[in-house]
Amino acid sequence: MGRYVVGVSGASGVILALHTLRALTNRGHHVELTISQYALYTAAIELGKEYSTLSKFMSQIERQELVTLHSNQDVGCAIASGSFVTDGMIIIPCSVTTLAAVAIGLGDNALRRAADVTLKEKRPLIIVPREAPFSEIHLENMLKLSRLGATIVPPVPAWYTNPKSLEDVENFIVGKVLDVLKIEHDLYPRWKS
Ligand SMILES: Cc1cc2nc3c(=O)[nH]c(=O)nc-3n(C[C@H](O)[C@H](O)[C@H](O)COP(=O)(O)O)c2cc1C
Repeated sequence: MGRYVVGVSGASGVILALHTLRALTNRGHHVELTISQYALYTAAIELGKEYSTLSKFMSQIERQELVTLHSNQDVGCAIASGSFVTDGMIIIPCSVTTLAAVAIGLGDNALRRAADVTLKEKRPLIIVPREAPFSEIHLENMLKLSRLGATIVPPVPAWYTNPKSLEDVENFIVGKVLDVLKIEHDLYPRWKS
């Protein structure tokens, strides 16, 4: 089974992080998780006040034994080192602040440092940036990171899958992330002509 770093930053769409954690752990993969302070702030707004605590966030994951939590303040934690081998990293959702930090190699917290490590070790880095509209700065940062080997997966739906609920859309986005990592799943229906 794989070992993936999941970084959750303070962009809208924190539910995508929960779906990702469930999708990975329900398939037996290990997750090295770090969550920014603003991600918890956003979670409290988007999911309910009780989500401002890490324990509530973690309680939504069935197979918690597969998740190792790293304080985002701790830049000395395992995921901050290239010697800690992982199969890649997902930043979901990714704020444009964290996007900018990663684009300039700023490792001022565990999430950003882990992303920098993932790039330097040339491991898969999947970034799910959420903002609308994007400024030229955001677009330049995405282009730079794409050229450096990261994969940009915007959290946008595909209408051809005929989603019936927001959860269908969320599963589609997480499915596209897992596709990049070549993790098998049935989170969305594949196109058949
Ligand atoms: C309710 C709420 C929604 C937000 N949504 C976004 C967003 O969609 N995209 C974004 O880039 N920043 C968004 N922000 C701003 C970020 O949280 C803020 O820039 C923060 O400093 C990001 O830090 P982080 O990347 O370390 O989590 C939002 C903030 C709040 C409070």
